[in-house]
Amino acid sequence: MGSNEFAPVPVGTLLDVRVGDVAHGGHCVARHEGQVLFVRHGLPGEFVRVRVNSAGGGGRFLRADVVEVLESEDVGRVSAPCEYAKRCGGCDWQHVSLARQRELKAEVVNSALSRALGRSIEVTVEQVPGDSLGLGWRTRIQLAVGADGRAGLSAQRSHEVIPIDDCLLGHPDLQLAKVLSQRWAGSSQVVVDVDGRGGREVSKVPGPRGPDVHRTAAGRDWVVPGAGFWQVHPGAADVLVAAVTEVVTPKIGEHILDLYAGVGLLGGSLAGAVGATGRVDLVESGRAAVRAAGTNLADLSQVRVHYGEVGSWLAQRRIKRADVVVLDPPRSGAGTQILAKCIALAPRVICYVACDPAALARDAKMLAEAGWELFALRAFDLFPMTQHIECVAGFRPVQAPGGSNS
Ligand SMILES: C[S@@+](CC[C@H](N)C(=O)[O-])C[C@H]1O[C@@H](n2cnc3c(N)ncnc32)[C@H](O)[C@@H]1O
Repeated sequence: MGSNEFAPVPVGTLLDVRVGDVAHGGHCVARHEGQVLFVRHGLPGEFVRVRVNSAGGGGRFLRADVVEVLESEDVGRVSAPCEYAKRCGGCDWQHVSLARQRELKAEVVNSALSRALGRSIEVTVEQVPGDSLGLGWRTRIQLAVGADGRAGLSAQRSHEVIPIDDCLLGHPDLQLAKVLSQRWAGSSQVVVDVDGRGGREVSKVPGPRGPDVHRTAAGRDWVVPGAGFWQVHPGAADVLVAAVTEVVTPKIGEHILDLYAGVGLLGGSLAGAVGATGRVDLVESGRAAVRAAGTNLADLSQVRVHYGEVGSWLAQRRIKRADVVVLDPPRSGAGTQILAKCIALAPRVICYVACDPAALARDAKMLAEAGWELFALRAFDLFPMTQHIECVAGFRPVQAPGGSNS
């Protein structure tokens, strides 16, 4: 039988398998008669009974959930703090100790980047301040509304709404119990946001865009439009600004380009260091975010905020050179064309903030092929209990013969 011709395994089949390495996406890899299974709720090294729940890749692989742990020794298994952990699709790793979660995340980053760059990369995943043992960190939560009007969380890979009484990941200021006890008939979603000035904001979908919320980070106050991007972990913004500043080491008079700028957190926080003789250009495609960035950074004469899609903005080549490019793209990454345009600006450093290690690895490979080396890498646990991870990577041109990178 070829690799694509496995005998079909019906949904519901129970299999006993040894769990292997963690894969991108938070599942672990196991095998059944040669066929790959992506296993949820297991841990590398365990022997488990799984229930097959779907096939993927045109039948090349199966997805399965652990129904019973048959053997588990020193692998970091704990009992999940949340009673909904197995059904709700929000958390991947409640059954894993926090220390082991971070090791698994590091393995995902290291293996993606090592493969992409052809050399060994070893990052450790750093804890950030602002959560309590991995709980209580979500300052924004999007709830789905079921047919009965109750708000809850979606099941894994499904539209089924799991009714909940609380979400342990929610920040206490969200006061979720109140939202969850109400009925939201006529809405498909309810979004709850902590407002840094005290209290919280609740908006319904469909419905008008939620009101602005306020945040404090990097010594400044920030306005964030409803549905606009802001890191949800309360420690994230400060930690990312510090990590980006460390990679960029901005200097007086320099020109910084902040792509995918949101409400201006990264570029705005670097602006003081380039001074009034420097310049910071921010590019963002969300109109409300652009307006908020303009308000947030109105006191910094060196900052210009541009509304536009990064690719077309760069294609117009409104700027010919930059000393520094900061990139913070969505999960799909920046991609070859955008990176080529960044390289054409001849910056001394590209600082890449990445929420998807696979996309970062693809882009790092392209940069390496273009003669750029990864010289700095940090990874932060901004999403405890989930498989998600945030990286900050620094790239610089490989030193030309007789040249200098300093
Ligand atoms: C991950 S967020 C980063 C925001 C900001 N750097 C921060 O730290 O708060 C990505 C941002 O890129 C914007 N965006 C997504 N695709 C874009 C594109 N093609 N061109 C410009 N902006 C884009 C989104 O609206 C979002 O605000």
